[in-house]
Amino acid sequence: MVKVNVSGCASFADAAKYQQYVAKAIKAQQVLKAGNGAGNDFLGWRVLPSGTPESLVAACEAVRDDWAGRGVDLVIAVGIGGSYLGAKCVIEALSHNFAKQLRTRKAAEVVFAGNNLSEDYLSELMDLAAERNVACIVISKSGTTTEPAVAFRLIKQYLEQRYGKAEAAARIVAITDAKKGALKTLSTQEGYRSFIVPDNVGGRFSVLTPVGLLPIVAAGFDIRALLKGALEMEKALADEKEDNPAIVYAAMRNLLYAELGKKVEILVNYNPKLTYVAEWWKQLYGESEGKDGKGIFPASVNNTADLHSMGQFIQEGERVMFETVISVDEADRKVVIGTDPENLDGLNFLAGKRVEECNRMAQLGTKLAHIDGGVPQLEVSIPKLDAYNLGSLLYFFEWACGVSAYTLGVNPFNQPGVEAYKKNMFALLEKPGYEEATKAIKQRLAE
Ligand code: PA5
Repeated sequence: MVKVNVSGCASFADAAKYQQYVAKAIKAQQVLKAGNGAGNDFLGWRVLPSGTPESLVAACEAVRDDWAGRGVDLVIAVGIGGSYLGAKCVIEALSHNFAKQLRTRKAAEVVFAGNNLSEDYLSELMDLAAERNVACIVISKSGTTTEPAVAFRLIKQYLEQRYGKAEAAARIVAITDAKKGALKTLSTQEGYRSFIVPDNVGGRFSVLTPVGLLPIVAAGFDIRALLKGALEMEKALADEKEDNPAIVYAAMRNLLYAELGKKVEILVNYNPKLTYVAEWWKQLYGESEGKDGKGIFPASVNNTADLHSMGQFIQEGERVMFETVISVDEADRKVVIGTDPENLDGLNFLAGKRVEECNRMAQLGTKLAHIDGGVPQLEVSIPKLDAYNLGSLLYFFEWACGVSAYTLGVNPFNQPGVEAYKKNMFALLEKPGYEEATKAIKQRLAE
């Protein structure tokens, strides 16, 4: 179960002020629960674990089994933003660090596309596809997003040329809106198996819908355990108690932001498998809170590596940040440092200790140093890095995001700012319907 520890903020945050922010966060949680706040037509994610039918889980597993029967060993998951980061974060967190290099892999490998417009990336993806037995999951809630649409056009053509139209259709699954969008039309016409992204679930809150579940199960991971962990968290966060971890997290980060000018939150990990948890979290908090001229800028570091690159700035640079450390209580494996009779590296003082103990002392030492340097520390911990606890962690961050954004006073569930670049890109690419915008942007560039 997820625990939040804010003792590393004690020397910064006044206790009475903290109580004020707890009261604000409790009110925000009541709004989130009652469903009467801004953006309340996007609250479907709140009950994804408890409301997810067995038939949906079984349908995801059936796709995995069908593809296994066809010998598929490479699944290309096409999507961007919320239609990509949830699956990527879970797969990276649960995978062996060297899964790509190991020859003992049993499940298919899931790779991602449609999250960039790099020509080299797409071309090199085709090099990989040529060596493997391929299937594709194309994910777009709107069904109209350019990056995945461009990637999917290429992959669809490739699969049809290689396998023929009927077999290609059996190797493609679409995840999109129930009724509208180009991907819906295409998948109906081509007869693809499809899954629905519920109307009331926004992209960045969709990891526990088929958007996340299908790529995760295709990669060989236990989505039942993931959902079970999320369900436990759904129950645990329901009460408006002041020690509710979501309320503690939301209260403290809002206090640090509003009272102490801490405008940057750095999500810190001490396990490279958590790198993409931070990327998913950055989208969740950045898109949910960064609006109306407000919001904490979400950043991340991967320690101990980044202590040797970002550590100097965090210790002594502009004092605008606080850190939230994701801490995993138990390492999965055990490696003990050996004795060396010559001790030329001077490390015999570590002989007999686990590497994880060194990692913990690095974490503790950094915490104390950064507190001394003026950087408050929050800690979000889970007992183990497995599907169950990861499910809890994801649900915790989603719920806490809703509570925190309402505490801040913004609508957590819209993202109006994302449209600005698209409008310019379409004008520059001369998309039909953008004639006026094209003229205006060309004139602007010529000035
Ligand atoms: O959180 C969001 O809503 C966005 O990040 C979307 O997930 C992203 O833009 C992709 O949209 P779509 O699934 O419609 O292609």
